[in-house]
Amino acid sequence: MSDLLESTANPNPIEQFRLWWDESLALGEERRQCMSLATIGDDGAPATRVVLLKQFDHRGFVFYTNYGSRKARELDRDPRAALVIHWFEQAHQVRVEGRAERTSREESKTYFAMRPRGSQLGAWASEQSAVIGARDVLDRQYAEAETRFNGVGIPCPHFWGGYRVVPHTVEFWQGQQSRLHDRLRYTRDGKGWRVERLAP
Ligand SMILES: Cc1cc2nc3c(=O)[nH]c(=O)nc-3n(C[C@H](O)[C@H](O)[C@H](O)COP(=O)(O)O)c2cc1C
Repeated sequence: MSDLLESTANPNPIEQFRLWWDESLALGEERRQCMSLATIGDDGAPATRVVLLKQFDHRGFVFYTNYGSRKARELDRDPRAALVIHWFEQAHQVRVEGRAERTSREESKTYFAMRPRGSQLGAWASEQSAVIGARDVLDRQYAEAETRFNGVGIPCPHFWGGYRVVPHTVEFWQGQQSRLHDRLRYTRDGKGWRVERLAP
C-alpha cells in the first residue's frame, strides 16, 4: 500500500481524487464509478443508495437521475448530501460532504445524448421511486416509449438530469496492512483547502 502523506498529497482534493481515479482505472477497478449517496428525508432520517459518478471537476461530483425520484425530492428540499466511494483494489475510500445542485439543462442533455438507447427509453418509461402494481406496468411503459420514439432520436426528458455535489469536505482514506490507516480530510477554507490528518 502506498502512503498518504500531507507532504506528497495534492493540496487540492479534486486533483488528489483525480490521481486515485486514474489509478483505479489503471488497476482495472470495474466498479469504480459506483458511489453511495446519502440524502436527508422529510423526517430528518438519512437514506442511501448507489449512483454512478459520471463527471468530476473543480466544481464537484456529478451523477444523473430522475428529478421526480425520492433522492431528487429530498435533495431539492434539503441539498445537504454525502457520497462515499470505495475502490477495493487500492484500499481507497473517499468521502464527500457538500450541497447538491442541479446541473444545467445543457449538461444533462449532453450526457443523456451519450447514453445507450435502452437507457434513454428506460428513463422515459420508469417513474423512478413511484409504487407500481406489477412488473408488467414497466414493460408496457417501455414498449410505449419504444413506439413513441420509433425511428427518431430520443430527447432528454424534462424530468431527468444531473446533480452536482459541491464539496465542503473531502476525506481520503488509504488502507494500510498495519491497520494504522491514513486519513486526510480536506475542508474548504476561504478560496483554498485546509488539510488535517484523522486517526483511523
Ligand atoms: C451499480 C448501481 C448503479 C446505479 N446508478 C444509478 C444512477 O446513476 N442514477 C440513479 O438514479 N440510480 C442509480 N441506481 C439505482 C439507485 O441505487 C436507486 O435504486 C434509484 O436511483 C432509486 O433511488 P431513490 O428511490 O432513493 O431515488 C444504481 C444502482 C446500482 C446498484
